[in-house]
Amino acid sequence: MVTEKQVYDALSKVFDPELGRNLVELGMIRELKITSEGKVSFTLALTIPGCPMKTQMERDARSVLMALPGVTDVAITFGAMSDAERKAIFTSAKPELPKLNKFNQVEKVVAVMSGKGGVGKSTVTSVLACELARQNKKVGILDADITGPSIPKLFGLPSGGLRGSEQGILPAVTRLGIRAVSTNLLVPTEDAAVIWRGPMITGTIQQFWRDVLWGKLDVLLVDLPPGTSDAALTVMQTLPVNGVVMVSTPQQLAGLVVRKAASMLKQVNVPVLGVVENMSFYPCAESGAQHEIFGPSHVEELAAAIGTDRWVRLPINPRVTELGDAGKIEDYQGEEVKSLLDLLDGRK
Ligand SMILES: Nc1ncnc2c1ncn2[C@@H]1O[C@H](COP(=O)(O)OP(=O)(O)OP(=O)(O)O)[C@@H](O)[C@H]1O
Ligand SMILES: [Mg+2]
Repeated sequence: MVTEKQVYDALSKVFDPELGRNLVELGMIRELKITSEGKVSFTLALTIPGCPMKTQMERDARSVLMALPGVTDVAITFGAMSDAERKAIFTSAKPELPKLNKFNQVEKVVAVMSGKGGVGKSTVTSVLACELARQNKKVGILDADITGPSIPKLFGLPSGGLRGSEQGILPAVTRLGIRAVSTNLLVPTEDAAVIWRGPMITGTIQQFWRDVLWGKLDVLLVDLPPGTSDAALTVMQTLPVNGVVMVSTPQQLAGLVVRKAASMLKQVNVPVLGVVENMSFYPCAESGAQHEIFGPSHVEELAAAIGTDRWVRLPINPRVTELGDAGKIEDYQGEEVKSLLDLLDGRK
């Protein structure tokens, strides 16, 4: 006869797609009964009574249970959590982290974030990864920009290049030995559009963390999409992020959106390690003067406003775009890139 433990084990494989946590850990399974004929019945306590995901959860729960030997029927009724229970779920400091593959050992997770798009997150993520790799660190890049991935292009990694193994998904490896995972490595061609809704994006990010064979890493860098999207929140809540490197440009507006992003980090309790003011100035090769093309720097005030005293100014360098477009970002080196490493020695 099927046991309660078997039922709970099976149901812990069913996830609330929005919260990214399983039904058992969320405490959603109530009044479980198993009859001697193998009929399993329980109440599924929803976080919100009209939860749009309820049909999917019901279907998933039913199918994992029906797959258990000895189960003849499954009856699920819906209930709702109390206000206090719901509050506990939404305000709990951090959900239980999805278990990392047992072969993985990741020392530090650093996410690269910005308020606005196009300020250079992916570029900063990549050059930072390269510099770490040149310092003999073991580095991974998790491209959490699921619908607008750019990591493979910067490194010249071919589409469709990810492979699976018994133990998990094998990351692509760059020339410098950086391990990278991105949706662009899953789709057959670089320009194939990934039109996914929120829950799929959330699920993919979790899989990139949990099901990829990262192995032993000193640092895993997470390249986020711009702003405070679902993806950014998923990363902050379900990965053990040690800190965030915030990328901005000198424009004032960029400062405002960065402060918004920083306010989200405060809510999820993730520290800002430092700010990169990208495209901060243009160094004149002849005179050595620094022209502030996008206006005067605000990096110092901005850093202070978001609670860090570490910042780096990166110059406008046409070679960055050139190398990035050619898939050769690994060839970009320089003192200014080395200074990025200081940010990682932040508070944690
Ligand atoms: N310091 C720099 N000097 C010159 N060009 C740069 C610099 N940094 C980034 N760029 C260029 O700016 C463009 C945007 O950069 P990137 O893709 O890294 O930004 P992003 O913040 O990741 O964008 P998205 O929000 O779309 O993910 C790219 O063409 C890149 O080559
Ligand atoms: Mg990007």
